[in-house]
Amino acid sequence: MNFTLRVWRQKDAKDPGGFKEYKAHDVLADMSFLEMLDEVNNELIAKNEEPIAFESDCREGICGTCCQMINGEAHGPETGATVCQLFMRSFKDGDTIIIEPWRASAFPILKDLVVDRSAFDEITAAGGFISANVGGAQDANCILVPKPEADTAMDAAACIGCGACVAACPNASAMLFVAAKVSHLAHLPQGQPEKAKRALAMVSKMDGLGFGNCRNYYECEAACPKEISVEHIAKMNREYGAAILLGKTNPPA
Ligand code: SF4
Ligand code: FES
Repeated sequence: MNFTLRVWRQKDAKDPGGFKEYKAHDVLADMSFLEMLDEVNNELIAKNEEPIAFESDCREGICGTCCQMINGEAHGPETGATVCQLFMRSFKDGDTIIIEPWRASAFPILKDLVVDRSAFDEITAAGGFISANVGGAQDANCILVPKPEADTAMDAAACIGCGACVAACPNASAMLFVAAKVSHLAHLPQGQPEKAKRALAMVSKMDGLGFGNCRNYYECEAACPKEISVEHIAKMNREYGAAILLGKTNPPA
């Protein structure tokens, strides 16, 4: 298979950037999208040209680093898959493929396809944890959790922090990411003591970092490689509302 790639190239955060065209030759249908980019980069390096900067680590859908907008879709055309789980058989021979970084002011572009997602780390650090010592695995197994609650918490915990929800949202909202963290812990007994504080702190930090608001477009759910449901946003809003009613004060962003 052969492809024409139109790739966003940007030297650094200050460079205005622009698209550059490359040819990908003799691509195998069973190559992953990242392997195809590796081959293009090998050719660029052989010609003494700057390779395309993109992130990857696990290459098996776990780490959330392979963030790319492919033909206008976060993580490309496959449902429930990250870029590293996308294979070239998903495209037609001769296709032109447009590859861009995430576009959101809270995720500034560092170089080419690499963006700074440390805003997510700041939100997690604001409250996406429990501070109580819950003991070892044996102690955890003694705390009974109803099966439906455990399943819902596990579904939310599947979030890999990739940021596709933000990139896909017309408002660059981070609600699905934050909701996944808040809902995960709010469904477990260990998460109860700090749940009001957590919801307030994480939502406040999200707002302060410049993410937009949710307007129910549901693009986040459609783009999420872990298929996290927007029902978690409803849960987060209930947790946030309950915390306000409890009279907890909103911490500064
Ligand atoms: S909610 Fe889904 S799309 Fe958003 S960061 Fe988590 S895994 Fe990625
Ligand atoms: S490289 Fe880790 S999720 Fe794609």
